[in-house]
Amino acid sequence: MKEKKIIAVVGATGAQGGGLVRAILNDPSGEFAVRALTRDIHSDKAKALARLGAEVTAADLDSETSLTQAFTGAYGAYCVTFFWTHFSPEKELAEATTMAKAASQTGLQHVIWSTLEDTRRWVPLTDNRLPTLMGKYKVPHFDAKGEANAVFSKLGLPATFLLTSFYWDNLIHFGMGPKRGQDGRLAITFPMGDKKLPGIAAEDIGKCAFGIFKNGRELIGRTAGIAGEHLTGAQMAATLSTVLGTEVLYNSVSPEVYRNLGFPGADDLGNMFQFKRDFEKDFCGARSLAFSRSINPDLLTFEQWLLENKNRIPLEGKAAQA
Ligand SMILES: NC(=O)c1ccc[n+]([C@@H]2O[C@H](COP(=O)([O-])OP(=O)(O)OC[C@H]3O[C@@H](n4cnc5c(N)ncnc54)[C@H](OP(=O)(O)O)[C@@H]3O)[C@@H](O)[C@H]2O)c1
Repeated sequence: MKEKKIIAVVGATGAQGGGLVRAILNDPSGEFAVRALTRDIHSDKAKALARLGAEVTAADLDSETSLTQAFTGAYGAYCVTFFWTHFSPEKELAEATTMAKAASQTGLQHVIWSTLEDTRRWVPLTDNRLPTLMGKYKVPHFDAKGEANAVFSKLGLPATFLLTSFYWDNLIHFGMGPKRGQDGRLAITFPMGDKKLPGIAAEDIGKCAFGIFKNGRELIGRTAGIAGEHLTGAQMAATLSTVLGTEVLYNSVSPEVYRNLGFPGADDLGNMFQFKRDFEKDFCGARSLAFSRSINPDLLTFEQWLLENKNRIPLEGKAAQA
């Protein structure tokens, strides 16, 4: 029997990595096997992955030794960092460097680096259209990921640079769902004006990543941008209204207002949305829907995702359902 190619998945208990783990385990061809990396092999989520058939292995981005051990013998790795657990772009760059070094030491044949744009290429620090944050970033959780691309390239890794998109799941987990205004009407709030926001079902990121691994060497050395749909706030609100069966409006605010909403990271996200708004052509252009569907034929539209998840959208005055 032909030996399976092992894919080591960082963040396997999370959104992106979890989608990839499930995509590999659900593949009837069985060409690949999955090694799910977690800091705690005894957690409920880790045990659930083991029950599905994944090999579960301990690894921590803070320890290069643990990653090198976890990558050993693998064909490929999915590398992702977790900005929102520490809010530090410097730490994110260090984590990416640790993964890249471990991938290099273990001679992996294909690495997918989950990245985003370094927005300073479009808006240099001297450009005050976006306020500079944390001393040297415009969109901290984007910029360090983009900066880390060079680390993978310099080490000569066989890498695909995966440009991800806004998860529609943020409407469930990230406090971005419809909220009631003072007039009592439900609205989603984004500082996007009438520009389009590329979005995706988080689960589809892993499915797209699997499509990239399955394509073999074709996408090595290339940037692959993915999205399920490019939608304006008004279009998202219209679909929410139809699927939820209750009116949802689109509340378009200025980036300045969004930056000052007062939750941790609001300034970073305000700059992020402004970047997506002001560079809509580049940002959407880097995320082809046709390409995304070619590597993941199951790719969901916003409406399809919403039909599957409508009972999980927390509406003020109505508790979220599991
Ligand atoms: N939300 C969005 O719209 C969006 C869009 C594009 C990109 N992103 C980016 O996506 C990234 C997060 O990915 P995600 O959403 O898949 O994450 P997630 O669902 O929050 O998953 C986090 C997982 O990471 C693991 N983890 C955390 N710290 C770790 C460490 N030090 N070492 C090893 N594993 C660690 C945890 O696993 P264990 O507890 O099992 O170890 C956890 O299950 C962020 O950097 C964010 O900027 C987000």
